[in-house]
Amino acid sequence: MARLIDTHAHLNSRQFREDLEQVLARARSAGVGMIINVGSDESDSERAVMQSEEYPQLWAAVGIHPHFAATVSPSFRNKLASLATNRRVLAIGEMGLDFYRELSPRHLQEEVFREQLELAAELKKPVIIHSREAHAETLQVLREMRPPQSGVAHCFSGSPKELAAFLELGFYISIAGPVTYPRSQELRLLLKEIPADRLLLETDAPYLAPLPYRGKRNEPAFIKKTYEQVALTLEMEPEALARQVQANAVRLFWA
Ligand code: NI
Repeated sequence: MARLIDTHAHLNSRQFREDLEQVLARARSAGVGMIINVGSDESDSERAVMQSEEYPQLWAAVGIHPHFAATVSPSFRNKLASLATNRRVLAIGEMGLDFYRELSPRHLQEEVFREQLELAAELKKPVIIHSREAHAETLQVLREMRPPQSGVAHCFSGSPKELAAFLELGFYISIAGPVTYPRSQELRLLLKEIPADRLLLETDAPYLAPLPYRGKRNEPAFIKKTYEQVALTLEMEPEALARQVQANAVRLFWA
């Protein structure tokens, strides 16, 4: 059986301080092979890297989430660059624009986003994109990058048109727990439009637990439920889906 891959989790979060080892043990029992532990600010990016050195299941991404764009230190770019020299760091992110909660002013979000895209281009690393209520602006910034970067639109939810635009840029599309929710009919329809070789799956733990764990702290073991729903929606054999997602993740992050 191909191993399941959680391409986006935040095990560096405070919510896993008490029981990370048990969480990782449950992930192993559920068949989860690799987990990408994603940074949201300078200190939890550093933590993601430290954890990836300690636990072989964990790999890291380092970046500044748009929520925290206003709180970066003046040397954040150098800090991320130096963390990214670690061989366990696979990507830069998560980064992007969030006009839904708008916790940082838009112009700062965009500035910090652009700096990280430049950094990723210098380091030749893929990018992990967070975009909420800001797809048009996010796509515009990505289009301005030359040469185009490889990356993933994480926890995707958007219109078919926005999906097409990310695919056009060569991006992978990552689907999270909400695909299991009864009201996510549109997301399940959209899922069918994603080419098989561009699909990734993730938990975004501790957020967005799939059914039947909705409302609880999410963790990588629960990704099994997301795989099951996606296999059902796509009418794929679970093993074929696991092999496909593994191949995609390896191509984007480990190649
Ligand atoms: Ni995230």
